[in-house]
Amino acid sequence: MATAATLDAVVRAAGPQLGPMMERVEARLAALASGHGPVLARHGGATIAAGGKRLRPLLVFLAAGEEAATAADRLVRAAAAVELIHSASLVHDDVLDRAPLRRGQPTVVAVAGRTVATATGDLLFSRAFAEVAGGGEIADVRALSAASSALAAGELMQRADAWDVGVPLERYVERCELKTGSLFEAACRLGALAVGGPADELAAFGRRIGLAFQLLDDVLDVSGPASRTGKARGTDLLDGTVTLPLIVARERDPQLAAVDLQALDGEAAAEAICDRIAATGALVEAKRRALDVVAEAKALLPRLSPRQRATLELVADGVVERYA
Ligand code: IPE
Ligand code: IPE
Ligand code: MG
Ligand code: MG
Repeated sequence: MATAATLDAVVRAAGPQLGPMMERVEARLAALASGHGPVLARHGGATIAAGGKRLRPLLVFLAAGEEAATAADRLVRAAAAVELIHSASLVHDDVLDRAPLRRGQPTVVAVAGRTVATATGDLLFSRAFAEVAGGGEIADVRALSAASSALAAGELMQRADAWDVGVPLERYVERCELKTGSLFEAACRLGALAVGGPADELAAFGRRIGLAFQLLDDVLDVSGPASRTGKARGTDLLDGTVTLPLIVARERDPQLAAVDLQALDGEAAAEAICDRIAATGALVEAKRRALDVVAEAKALLPRLSPRQRATLELVADGVVERYA
């Protein structure tokens, strides 16, 4: 996820069954994005082909653990659906956030405008639900529906709080849990459900590492560089999204406390604020808090086989030790 090295370590620790199942997910993703007309084929296909860490599908399999191969068909469907919902949310998120760059490529909204980006995201959502409905497992459909609703609520909350530099920490955390924690939660729940594992406990772990993942994402938005993250530095500041680094930095630097994000004109001005935030030590502090959340997540893990526990702990550590 982070680094290729972390991913390799997870794949090695999980055993030989994981690689072929992840390859099946890639094949499903490519197939699902290629039908349903030229808009989805072009922009949905490009979004999928641009890659991404595939962390959520990976979690589906790791939450299933060593029994995964016994429920491979259900898990592959679930993993593909989770990644499609994630990709759909990114395409829509880039419209809301006016983001220029995603996975190292121009965003759909930058290439084709709001209407096409909205339709592309809608189609990706629809393909995700078709995929999971095809398996006939109503619990899986419910888990993904709950995550999609939470995601939308989180994105709406973010817009409602836009430009408010005084947003309370608790509200920021709630937003992160909704928009990111929920899908990690669903990924872990789906994995556990497929093999009759401890679904509620693994879902709670997933929600927690999803929160840590978003905390670190918000650090990366300030630290960059775009060559590593595949996203433009300072995107959050430019669209009025106030995140933990700024919340912490405002307590340490009176000039930052007085900053008016709506007055920022362009990327250079945003990058200057990013430098100022970093100079307060707020990125180190935000990362420290993300590590605390990872520790809480690990403490939520139920009794599992040593191998399954090891792989989930590796992922938990990886959500904070990463540069993309
Ligand atoms: C980006 O997620 C959106 C967030 C929830 C922060 P990822 O960082 O997992 O994106 P990809 O799939 O690897 O591009
Ligand atoms: C996560 O928030 C977005 C979604 C959950 C869709 P961000 O807006 O920080 O994600 P990036 O940085 O654009 O990937
Ligand atoms: Mg965004
Ligand atoms: Mg971000």
